[in-house]
Amino acid sequence: MGSSAVTAITIGLCLVLVAVYFASDSYRTMQNVLIITGLSENFYVKSALNFLKPDQTDQGSSTAGNNLNKSEKNNQLLLSPEELKSYDGGPDSKGLYLAILGEIFDVEKGAQHYRPGGGYAFFAGRDATRAYITGDFSEAGLIDDVSDLDSASLIGIEDWLSFYKEEYKLVGKVVGKYYDLNGKPTELLSSIREKMNIAKENKWIKDKNKDIFPPCNSEWSKERGSKVWCSKKSGGVDRDWVGVPRELHIQGQDPRCVCVKNYGPPSTDSDSTQNSNNGDIDYPLLKEYPGCLPTSESCAVSHP
Ligand code: HEM
Repeated sequence: MGSSAVTAITIGLCLVLVAVYFASDSYRTMQNVLIITGLSENFYVKSALNFLKPDQTDQGSSTAGNNLNKSEKNNQLLLSPEELKSYDGGPDSKGLYLAILGEIFDVEKGAQHYRPGGGYAFFAGRDATRAYITGDFSEAGLIDDVSDLDSASLIGIEDWLSFYKEEYKLVGKVVGKYYDLNGKPTELLSSIREKMNIAKENKWIKDKNKDIFPPCNSEWSKERGSKVWCSKKSGGVDRDWVGVPRELHIQGQDPRCVCVKNYGPPSTDSDSTQNSNNGDIDYPLLKEYPGCLPTSESCAVSHP
């Protein structure tokens, strides 16, 4: 066969394959194309189909041969930490991505921060969750380990995650510490999320506590000793009631003076109509100051 005949057959075969391959999404597997065209799965056909396939380099390739990029069902990218490195916005990189707690975001929109030379370029192409909280932007600090961080830090990380979810496009997951080969959360991630939820709940209770039991005003003088008292702004909490001073005893915390609303429904059931009209005064962890009238807005105390 002459070379022009081979070229003609090659072009013809390619045209058939192109027509079939792009005819419908449901035909986009090599097996289907081969069945329809009646071709055998030889090297030539494989190569031709690989050539025709949409570029998958953008979707990452598995270094471990685990087909990472295809294994998640909702079409998200699955990259190993090594693969993520090639998305650092550098001259030969495949894009500008960063990860936080294993979730990968396309941060092209914020390229001025993340591209090489940008103020936060060190975040690109990796998961440096820890540094978002510690502010340690050295190589040793730019890591994904958060195992020893306290609850306030975990809340901080969740805030950053929310920030990225709001500002940037979530494109995939890093396979390893926080997501498995199928893009499912690892046990470690689940336990961190649980810790985050507990931290958030505690914070909510603490914040709420401040509204329900605002701190007292206090003063000390050599002549008169200590005095605590309540006002509509004590503890920096603006409110329409004054309250009476009580000592709040929460396990694991130092006792402190709080102002307690002593009329109306309790805060825990503020809509109730059938109540003792004592406000929160019956809360079990409160103690009266000795020698102070239960209804007094001000008490002298024997210790600050
Ligand atoms: C733990 C410490 C810090 C971390 C992890 C951090 C992280 C970041 C990140 C990731 C961005 C880019 C946000 C985006 O994608 O739009 C950013 C922006 C910025 N940060 Fe920080 N930052 C830190 C501390 C600081 C400090 C101390 C300052 C100022 C003294 C600062 C000033 C700024 C400014 C001015 C921007 C740019 C805002 C804009 O152009 O929209 N950051 N920071």
